[in-house]
Amino acid sequence: MNEVIQNILTRRSVRSFTEEQISDENLNILLEAAEYAPSGMGKQGWHFTVVQNKEKMDKLIAAVKEQMLNSSEERFKKVGSNPDFNPFYNAPTVIITAYDKTSATVEADCAVALENIFLAAHSLKISSCWVHILAYFGKDPKVRSILSELGVPKDYEVSGSAVLGYSSKPLPEAAPRKEGLVNIVK
Ligand SMILES: Cc1cc2nc3c(=O)[nH]c(=O)nc-3n(C[C@H](O)[C@H](O)[C@H](O)COP(=O)(O)O)c2cc1C
Repeated sequence: MNEVIQNILTRRSVRSFTEEQISDENLNILLEAAEYAPSGMGKQGWHFTVVQNKEKMDKLIAAVKEQMLNSSEERFKKVGSNPDFNPFYNAPTVIITAYDKTSATVEADCAVALENIFLAAHSLKISSCWVHILAYFGKDPKVRSILSELGVPKDYEVSGSAVLGYSSKPLPEAAPRKEGLVNIVK
């Protein structure tokens, strides 16, 4: 099997990180990989905000957790009330993807850019996970104002985020693949 396919098959989501930061050189490679993802009509309607500042990240997490507690959904209330819960898993780097709502495909564009980040990261032995919490709570005024302070452009919506760093545990096994989800017509 060639190493690109091997890389795709062995990437796993990681939710426990050491404090070691990724290098600026690797960060730039990940961002370049993101920017070379396909995008609808080649519009590149995405924006990436990289946060590597613990204090600023903690401020964002506190605002998100406040909204989780105010949520009408029990699942958010339950995890949000755990003082140890960090939706970004204490990862030293978080890349927030946001899109300009005026273009039709941009949410999908951000998703393929995130996948490029995950695969490029794995090839560099950097662990990652998609964290979706800002797509749920990014519109809340308090969370939004912190996102603006971090540089997420005005009027852009958050599609998700990539948490990145070095895993503190061996990578988990992949779940078995479901059967019957492919139809090939020849
Ligand atoms: C759109 C999307 C949203 C996700 N949101 C979260 C999330 O908020 N938190 C989390 O821990 N994992 C999240 N994940 C990661 C999935 O849980 C993970 O990909 C899945 O369990 C399969 O595991 P694997 O990535 O190791 O193959 C998300 C994945 C996708 C594609």
